[in-house]
Amino acid sequence: MRKKIVAGNWKMNTSFAEGKKLAEDILVDLKNINEGEDVILIPPFTHLSGVGELINNTSLSLGAQNCHVAEKGAYTGEISAKMLKSVGTNYCLVGHSERRTYNKETDEELKAKLQALFKEGIGPIFCCGEQLEDRKSGNYKTIIDQQLSLLWELSKEEFNQLILAYEPVWAIGTGETASADQAQEIHKFIRASIEAHFDKDLADNTTILYGGSCKPTNAEELFSKEDVDGGLIGGAALKADDFLAIVNSL
Ligand code: PGA
Repeated sequence: MRKKIVAGNWKMNTSFAEGKKLAEDILVDLKNINEGEDVILIPPFTHLSGVGELINNTSLSLGAQNCHVAEKGAYTGEISAKMLKSVGTNYCLVGHSERRTYNKETDEELKAKLQALFKEGIGPIFCCGEQLEDRKSGNYKTIIDQQLSLLWELSKEEFNQLILAYEPVWAIGTGETASADQAQEIHKFIRASIEAHFDKDLADNTTILYGGSCKPTNAEELFSKEDVDGGLIGGAALKADDFLAIVNSL
């Protein structure tokens, strides 16, 4: 089923105490989450278990920012999908632009991460998005197409477990947001690509989030677009009031 989702990616922010306080503040004023909606907190690894305990048996879900491709072994400093599962993680980001840029993540790695997550029953949130120069040159659809191409190798059953997130890199953390029409154009394009590679049913049922300086003042307009099913929120997810206002825009 195509869900409406708001996910808060905390990135490398908050101490453990601050993270727990943020989750508590969100819980206090969280509206009733309707059937077919999901609100996901994506804290740093160190906070997963603590935040997970706090939100256990609430309507909030837990997400992770990354995982390693292997199940276990001599990979100092890494965290496996199996470990994420053991602390109750339901979702995990894959292919966020910051990891593509700073950690040079390749398509091969992203494919392996997807498989590692599928094996544990964790829903991947697969991110794509063009750089500013691609937007300016008008080349942006080609870039999105290239980034999505590894997904066409998945089975329909696997693809069905994915959430997609369109995050134009020029809008992430910059305060500059894609207009609702720009977001809709790409979301529609992504949905049409899913239909072309799989079928209409799968395309209609895939959740596609928008990310990139989404905030209380623009969330409602973005989410009102036909193919925008919610948001992946960075900066505004670090303030309970802002995050809740965005959740209320669903
Ligand atoms: P932003 O980040 O909301 O701070 O632009 C979004 C993201 O990177 O997921």
